[in-house]
Amino acid sequence: MTERPRPNESRARVVALAVTGSVAAYKAVEVARLLIKSGHRVLPLMTASATRFVGPVTLSGICGEPVATDMWDPAYPGELHVAIADRADVLAIVPATADALARLAQGRADDLVTATALCARGPVLVAPAMHPRMWSHPATQANVAALVSQGRVRLAGPVVGPVASGDVGMGRMAEPVEIARAVEELASGVGDLSGKRVVVTAGPTYEPIDPVRFLGNRSSGKMGFALAARARARGADVLLIAGPVALPTPAGVERRDVETAEQMRAALADALGPDLRGADAVVMAAAVADFRPASASATKIKKDAASAAPAIDLARNPDLIAEIAARRAGEAPALVAFALETGDDAAVLAYARKKLEQKRVDLVVANAAHESLGHGDNRVALVDAAGASPFVAASKEALADRILDRLVARPA
Ligand SMILES: Cc1cc2nc3c(=O)[nH]c(=O)nc-3n(C[C@H](O)[C@H](O)[C@H](O)COP(=O)(O)O)c2cc1C
Repeated sequence: MTERPRPNESRARVVALAVTGSVAAYKAVEVARLLIKSGHRVLPLMTASATRFVGPVTLSGICGEPVATDMWDPAYPGELHVAIADRADVLAIVPATADALARLAQGRADDLVTATALCARGPVLVAPAMHPRMWSHPATQANVAALVSQGRVRLAGPVVGPVASGDVGMGRMAEPVEIARAVEELASGVGDLSGKRVVVTAGPTYEPIDPVRFLGNRSSGKMGFALAARARARGADVLLIAGPVALPTPAGVERRDVETAEQMRAALADALGPDLRGADAVVMAAAVADFRPASASATKIKKDAASAAPAIDLARNPDLIAEIAARRAGEAPALVAFALETGDDAAVLAYARKKLEQKRVDLVVANAAHESLGHGDNRVALVDAAGASPFVAASKEALADRILDRLVARPA
């Protein structure tokens, strides 16, 4: 007979594993098995819908713990959600339905899983699983963005792949082994970016034509905000230099709002200092305008019926990341640039490779304008001196983690 693994006292953690009502619920059993194999203690809980997809007996058999499904269980004297939240170092919601994400984003607590999440004293991991149309619905995307910006939730997946209906797209739950790894990272309590200072730029710049008009671009800032939120959640001290966007500041992130490229340059200079020692990494996700009106009118330019439309002379803006790269003596700070192009994958990659060489940065995130601007998801390839990764489609939060993984993996 083989005994259940004994918790390794130094590393063992208590994981509350909450299962919600998706076909992917059966995979939560494998996540539980992997966590137990690593020596952790798993407290299973399920929503009423989840019990229709996978038997509580299966989960309790794997976990060696009773499955909690009901806040109102008369057999339990006291507040079950508080007791579970008190005991758990991490809460993992696997899978997380669209409805569970909506309830979590609103801070609702009318079932055991959401009440426990609201009461969690440690980090919460959610592994969404749903049909791609449910995932891409603006309501779900808004709920996910709200959860990430609150800074308490780490997303694992979803990924692109076949879902239960047979359709293929973004919404398939991340693989159990990936989810278990993410839970273990969270459970270890030390973010892999702790002690690091990360500066992220995000959003567009607005270059004034006159006091009411500007030249701008369609950047929404979502990628940069996701990067800032994820870097913070992984323990970094984060400064977010944001162009004009209407996004909430991720929890725990220091934010500086700017409008023009020149202001962004000044904010970067301030943050990095003369010797660039102010950051371990600079991630330039902002879409900084390449050109600005050579001179901005101090008063509103009038429409004069008699004269032709005015011409706007343009001046080049400074290339902010190339400036920093040129001043870098060694490898610090790490520099990440974005290459946004309008062509096919080959054109996007060629442009990214050129950018990597010309700007002398460490990593270029290659993406296509039509798949990125304003979307909650994106499809990117990561290009560095070693080559280019395949294009991967994922939520901006998940892509932010991939980009940060690359920074963490860089030789010190
Ligand atoms: C067969 C079936 C499969 C379902 N699969 C999913 C799914 O993968 N993802 C999802 O978000 N909802 C799915 N639903 C809908 C949820 O089960 C439903 O929204 C439920 O209220 C979620 O409750 P819970 O979040 O409390 O578990 C499915 C429903 C059925 C009947």
